[in-house]
Amino acid sequence: MIDVNKIRQDFPILSRKINGKNLIYFDNAATSQKPESVLKTIDDYYRNHNANIHRAIHTLGEEATAMYENARNKVANFIKAARPEEIIFTSGTTASLNLVAYAWGRLNLSQNEEIILTVMEHHSNLVPWQQLAFENGLTLKYLEIDESGTIKADALEEIITPKTKLLAITHMSNVLGTINPIKEMIKVAHRHNVTTVIDAAQSVPHLPVNVQSLDCDFLAFSGHKMLGPTGVGVLYGKQKQLEKMPPFFFGGHMIKEVYLEKTLFNEIPAKFEAGTSPIAQVVGLGAAIDYLEKIGMDNVREHEKALTDYALSQLAQIEGLTIYGPKNSQIRGGVIAFNLHGIHSHDVAQILDAEGIAIRVGNHCAMPLHTALQIPASCRASFYLYNTKEEIDLLKKGLLKTKKVFL
Ligand SMILES: Cc1ncc(COP(=O)(O)O)c(C=O)c1O
Repeated sequence: MIDVNKIRQDFPILSRKINGKNLIYFDNAATSQKPESVLKTIDDYYRNHNANIHRAIHTLGEEATAMYENARNKVANFIKAARPEEIIFTSGTTASLNLVAYAWGRLNLSQNEEIILTVMEHHSNLVPWQQLAFENGLTLKYLEIDESGTIKADALEEIITPKTKLLAITHMSNVLGTINPIKEMIKVAHRHNVTTVIDAAQSVPHLPVNVQSLDCDFLAFSGHKMLGPTGVGVLYGKQKQLEKMPPFFFGGHMIKEVYLEKTLFNEIPAKFEAGTSPIAQVVGLGAAIDYLEKIGMDNVREHEKALTDYALSQLAQIEGLTIYGPKNSQIRGGVIAFNLHGIHSHDVAQILDAEGIAIRVGNHCAMPLHTALQIPASCRASFYLYNTKEEIDLLKKGLLKTKKVFL
């Protein structure tokens, strides 16, 4: 198990006071905090190595290029990609999913063909497909959740038809915490020649992910949710998929030869990384991966499972509090959405903020899921490796206080 007190010392922001109280940061599903090593790496990059990459024949340019490509190797190892060329740097999960929708989707999906999504998707893995469906005359089909907030792999078999061409699904819900049985679902999809896109924004930061074992075609995640900086994300794609996929952004670096009449595109990954890349951010993401690997992703997962079990049992003791999503930490991550009966979620967040506790309220970019749950909004507490059971006790205390204020 991990030494949380030692880990906490690596995160300068955790010593901040908010409204005179120690900060309790439970908004990790939105973005994570950054350890000293990531902050130092970014600072060192700008102070000592800053240059544009892949172009300069000077020392700084070579150093910056090596740092950038080294980070690509780290990402590839982290998610067990077969080769670093399968890692495309983007600005985040949203950009990665849009890239697949526009580059792969436009080419491969036509009139009356079907895409399967789930009702628990983040808008990032729903709206791009919806737009493509409008443009290309496609049909969207949605897997529903059961009362426990889960989707069974068999449900997929039931709605796949010969017209189904794509399954785009979240690995872990950013509201329910549900970890979907994506390995089984990918197997079912491939049996029917259906391509698979995984939104791993909430899974890659919190549990070991092995893209070769999953056998997914594409997988997307963001650096800022896994201790790295904002402005960088990843699109993993199998080499054969990326080689067939046309580029979507055009400009410098993604080209091999340019003539006035035509252009020959570069090999992967450069083909998808037009223009100046987010170099400092990529290097910072490399440092975040170093940090997570030092702790061990199995340990991160175990710690969060223990926090989740504890939080589920503690919050369940509060009368009038409804928790959404599975009650079993084996099939869920450390994201807990809830409502306090009769109290608006914004009021809950405000009282908790006065106690120094940061949670998120609203629909968490998952409006269709909230519609399915028949609620306008929810409160969400989400954990990471630096959170503690004592903080969960204070959350419980804050919620009991909220009830006293409003009821
Ligand atoms: C499941 C899921 N998908 C996609 C995203 C979008 O990530 P980003 O805003 O970093 O592009 C998020 C962010 O909250 C998410 O939780």
